[in-house]
Amino acid sequence: MPFKLNMDFSNKLITWYLQNKRNLPWREEPDPYYVWLSEIMLQQTRVDQAMPYFYKFIETFPKLHDLACADENTVLKLWQGLGYYSRARNLHFSAKHIINILNGEFPNSYHKLIKLKGIGDYTASAIASICFNESKAVVDGNVYRVLSRYFNIETPINSSKGIKEFRELAQKLVPFENPGDYNQAIMELGATVCKPQNPACEICVLNDGCLALKDNKQKLLPVKENKVKITTIHLNYLVIVSTNNKLILEKRNGKGIWKHLYQFPLIESPIEIGVNEFISHPLFISIFNNSEINIQLYNEIPIRHKLTHRNLLTKFWIIRTPNNQQLNTDWNTINEFPVPILIANFLKQFKFD
Ligand code: ADE
Repeated sequence: MPFKLNMDFSNKLITWYLQNKRNLPWREEPDPYYVWLSEIMLQQTRVDQAMPYFYKFIETFPKLHDLACADENTVLKLWQGLGYYSRARNLHFSAKHIINILNGEFPNSYHKLIKLKGIGDYTASAIASICFNESKAVVDGNVYRVLSRYFNIETPINSSKGIKEFRELAQKLVPFENPGDYNQAIMELGATVCKPQNPACEICVLNDGCLALKDNKQKLLPVKENKVKITTIHLNYLVIVSTNNKLILEKRNGKGIWKHLYQFPLIESPIEIGVNEFISHPLFISIFNNSEINIQLYNEIPIRHKLTHRNLLTKFWIIRTPNNQQLNTDWNTINEFPVPILIANFLKQFKFD
């Protein structure tokens, strides 16, 4: 690509950005910890959704050291509702690593950053360019959209060929001066102008060179290969209300996006189950054995919740029971635990009677 073309592209973007950028708290004086946190939150989450979480987080942990000293439950509780909880667990892990192993010295280059758990090419490029002026391209969903449209590239962005092609193109375009502003500019344009559904091409600073606009095919780009198979599973939660106000809450271990969050005992099934299958399930029997219980289905119509690869259909079963050795949590403390948003929403509505 001719050098002049690059310069046009990046200069236009940076000029536009400096006049139109949103006023975000990590932008004025980029502190690496704040930039890191914001970039982790902004993966999979829009700015307006992430902002309240960002403020709450830095209020609780103003310095990296505060985060490193926190316990995991507090971190996950602050993340509750943002989803993709491995982001929070890894952030916490790497904060401890920087404080305890790297003696509190924040890694100040792409190559050092990428060694940290939870920091991949995108986050390392973002922090290195914004905080340390390193000319490394970020490639996120916004960048794929802007580049595929401007250059009319139809290679699927989730194919290995596409990933390589866009990465190389993006890297050619990053200027040596102000790479941080440039990276934020292209993401900002993607988020606010070159939007997925209704791009505002008439006000776009890149509109005179945009090949997709020329052929009126903005909405067809970027191309994505359909790869993921989405499965449906049914979740049946056992919400126990005992005579001494206790329940069972368990911590999720093993793999999965809800790792280390808390939940009611859970019976999962590929198809919907009724009360007979429910009460004859081994988990149910192991908890209640022959005790006198009363069961009430909280919601006849399963609550729908979509994850990236799964559709969840959830029923909450309220089970009233006498005291039981296995009940481990007091209902009065329930709001202290980090839980999937599905359960948090239930807890907001559920009333004892
Ligand atoms: N999306 C993710 N990170 C961003 C940033 N730094 N600026 C604008 N949009 C973003």
